[in-house]
Amino acid sequence: MDTIRVAVTGAGGRMGREVVKMVLQDEQLTLAAAVSPSAGPVDAGTLVGLQACGVTVTPDLETALANAQADVLVDFTVPHAVYDITKTAIEHGVRPVIGTTGFTPEQIEELDKLCQSQGIGGLIAPNFSIGAILMMKFAAQASKYMPHVEIIEYHGDQKLDAPSGTSIKTAELISEVRQELRQGNPKEKETIEGARGGHYDGFRIHSVRLPGIFAQQEVIFGGYGQTLKIRHDSYERAGYMPGVNVAVKKVMTYTGLIYGFEHVMD
Ligand SMILES: NC(=O)c1ccc[n+]([C@@H]2O[C@H](COP(=O)([O-])OP(=O)(O)OC[C@H]3O[C@@H](n4cnc5c(N)ncnc54)[C@H](O)[C@@H]3O)[C@@H](O)[C@H]2O)c1
Repeated sequence: MDTIRVAVTGAGGRMGREVVKMVLQDEQLTLAAAVSPSAGPVDAGTLVGLQACGVTVTPDLETALANAQADVLVDFTVPHAVYDITKTAIEHGVRPVIGTTGFTPEQIEELDKLCQSQGIGGLIAPNFSIGAILMMKFAAQASKYMPHVEIIEYHGDQKLDAPSGTSIKTAELISEVRQELRQGNPKEKETIEGARGGHYDGFRIHSVRLPGIFAQQEVIFGGYGQTLKIRHDSYERAGYMPGVNVAVKKVMTYTGLIYGFEHVMD
C-alpha cells in the first residue's frame, strides 16, 4: 500500500516537531518535506529521524512542494503567514491540514473554492484535541436550554491572536442553536475598557494570557439559581497528534475545504 506523503510547515516549532515525530512513527505516512524559516531547531531525536528518511529542513516552501511530491501539508506556523502557505499548498495540488488559527470567513471561502477547483480536500481546524471538540459540542447542546453564556479561554502569554480560534469556533456552534438574546444589563458601563471581554452575537468571550498556562477553556452557563461549567484542559502538545493523524488520512478522501475537526472526527 502506498503511504501518504506529508510535508510539514513550522517543522522547527513546538507543534511542528510533534507532527514530524508523529509522521515518522506511523508506517502509513512518509515525511516528504520539513519546512521552517529557521532551518535547524529540531531536537536531536527528530533530526536523526529526518536524516534516516533523507529529509532536510528547508526554509523554502515553493521548492519543497515542487520537489517533494507531497499529498498533504500540515501547518502549525503563525497567523500572518498561514493564508499564503495554505494557498501555495493548494496551488501545488497538496491537501492542506491547518492547525494555525487566524483565517477570516472570506479567506476560508476562497480557499474552499480553490480546493474544489483543484479537486482536492483540505481541513482548517482551530483545535485537533478530541476532548476540546467534545467540550464544544456539549457547550452547544447546553446553550439550547441555558442561553445565558460566557466563554473564558486561557493560553500562554506568547500567543499572538485573541480570542483563541477554539473560543470563536465554540461561539459559532453556540450561536447556531442558542435563542437570540443580548445578555446582561443594557445600561451596563465598563469603567475599564475591555473589562467585560469581547462581544460575540449577544454574549462575551474573555481571553486570559499568562505564562505557565498551556490551553484551557471554560464555558459557563447561568440560569435561575444555578450555573453549569463545561471545562477542557490541554496539558501538552502531543495530545493534539491523534487528531492530526486522523485528519491527514481523512483529507485524502474528500474534495473541498472543511472548517472544524469535528466534521471529520465521526
Ligand atoms: N489547531 C490546534 O489544535 C492547535 C494546537 C496548538 C497550537 N496551535 C497553533 O499552532 C501555531 C504554532 O504553535 P507553536 O506552539 O508550535 O508555535 P511555535 O512558535 O513553537 O512555532 C511556530 C513555527 O512557525 C514558524 N514560522 C514563524 N514565522 C513564519 C513564517 N512567516 N512563515 C513560515 N513559518 C513561520 C517558526 O519558525 C516556527 O517553526 C500557533 O498558531 C498556535 O496557535 C493550534
